[in-house]
Amino acid sequence: MKFKKLFAPILLSSVAATASVQAGEVEVLHWWTSGGEAKSVAVLKDLLEKQGHSWKDFAVAGGGGESAMTVLKSRAVSGNPPAAAQIKGLDIQEWANLGLLTNLDGVAKKANWDNLLPGVVSNVMKSGGKYVAVPVNVHRVNWLWANPEVFKKAGVEIPTTWDNFFPAADAIQKAGFIPLAHGGQAWQDATLFEAVALGMGGSDFYNKAFVTHDMNTLKSDQMVKVFETFKRLKKYIDKDSAGRDWNIATSMVINGKAAMQVMGDWAKGEFTAAGKKPGVDFMCLAAPGTSGQFTFNIDSFAMFKLNNSDNVKAQNALASTIMGPEFQEVFNLNKGSIPARLGMARDKFDSCAHASMDAFNGSAATGDLVPSMAHGLSTTSYIQGAIYDVVTNFFNDDNLSAKDAVNKLAQAVKAAM
Ligand code: BGC
Repeated sequence: MKFKKLFAPILLSSVAATASVQAGEVEVLHWWTSGGEAKSVAVLKDLLEKQGHSWKDFAVAGGGGESAMTVLKSRAVSGNPPAAAQIKGLDIQEWANLGLLTNLDGVAKKANWDNLLPGVVSNVMKSGGKYVAVPVNVHRVNWLWANPEVFKKAGVEIPTTWDNFFPAADAIQKAGFIPLAHGGQAWQDATLFEAVALGMGGSDFYNKAFVTHDMNTLKSDQMVKVFETFKRLKKYIDKDSAGRDWNIATSMVINGKAAMQVMGDWAKGEFTAAGKKPGVDFMCLAAPGTSGQFTFNIDSFAMFKLNNSDNVKAQNALASTIMGPEFQEVFNLNKGSIPARLGMARDKFDSCAHASMDAFNGSAATGDLVPSMAHGLSTTSYIQGAIYDVVTNFFNDDNLSAKDAVNKLAQAVKAAM
């Protein structure tokens, strides 16, 4: 008490300087370590620190977040989770069901989050009707990134269907370039696979396979064709792809070694961080056959229950900062995604972001807004893991037929349900 009195004037002046209530600390777990990602997360750190709170960075490298989730589990098991963790989709429910997440309704009601978010986003953030997570963005996953110079040299057009992908890829290979930049990691294989499934089978097929897990769809001839087409892509990926990180694959398109990459629009964050301009240095097109469709992946921070009241204040400040227009704009300009918050000005965003915003609205109206399986939005982590295993094993095993893979897929999904 005495100590507090003695230092009160000093504390007050430092508080006034940072315009903060009592300062606390938030430890934030995320996996944003690539060039574009690191620039994006720095925005949040700065905005929080400006309010006088401190940010304890807990970055666990590894695209798609598998390693981050493993580390998070071990921290939670030892009773010491961070204040906030990058948790997405159905995983949010799994964590909330364990009773570990805090109720953010106080912050959410004050700022009227229900009116600021599309239903498809707010639903994912709530458990039992209460907000337990905050969305930072909406990523479109079904993109094809292309280097126009390479296409010019090969004398072919950028493909818009899987049928015309193959002749274009042959020409690119003949011209001495790698047609498809890819990293051999399970989540990247799954990202490519779901794009093929959506492009060939359509939204209804996609939803039946990856959301409701209809066995007839999983075992269908259409699914066999999807696996066959997926496997044909292997020939157009270079031999050194095993284990390669996604952003290294993106850099191969940036520097003209490769012609294309199928990847979510976090890849645009890499092009932007490298000073490249859309429509000039690189092109963004919907993944083949998916122009009216939108595979969504929403990044969000779930907030854990905390004991220290100053840290709770910092955690609430983090939550309201994330939903603020300033953060939603600057973060998404760097990240390659579009704001989760409705009614944001479009003028600072580039043509790829505009295309994404239009596709988000258009696809919502036609039933073509589908959740990403590869990024945890369509199904539980158990089923997602089962699909990952089948897809990756098939892609890497030249002795497995597409028919075998389809049977394995149906069995694996059923066992994980
Ligand atoms: C996340 C993105 C991230 C990407 C690569 C995705 O699952 O949603 O935010 O940039 O993985 O790490």
